[in-house]
Amino acid sequence: MSEHPEDAPIAKLSLVSKFAAIDDHWNPRIVGELNGQHVKIAKIHGAFDWHHHEHEDELFLVHRGSFRMEFRDRAIDLEAGDILIVPRGVEHRPVADHEAEILMFEPAGTLNTGNVTSARTVREPERL
Ligand code: NI
Repeated sequence: MSEHPEDAPIAKLSLVSKFAAIDDHWNPRIVGELNGQHVKIAKIHGAFDWHHHEHEDELFLVHRGSFRMEFRDRAIDLEAGDILIVPRGVEHRPVADHEAEILMFEPAGTLNTGNVTSARTVREPERL
């Protein structure tokens, strides 16, 4: 994808094709950008790290499968087609009992592990 979207041709993308190119988990890829936001996709499986984002709200959309977003006081189950927005500052962790495909929409530069640094932190997501 171009670093300068205004120069890029207008073209649709296929989430099915993009996900087919991913064979790992918890490794977000950038598939689009607009207005300073990144559209990212990832396959997930298992429990992620507890974290929060000081300044960014995060949108999650389930493309295939299901997962639950755990908060310290409750959990929300999400299925394909569901969207959840996690407000900034709220501690959360996604947990997928089976592999799921998710799309995230958040400001460019948002770290996947938020305020926490771990082996899963991806500082420079690749573009797919
Ligand atoms: Ni997060």
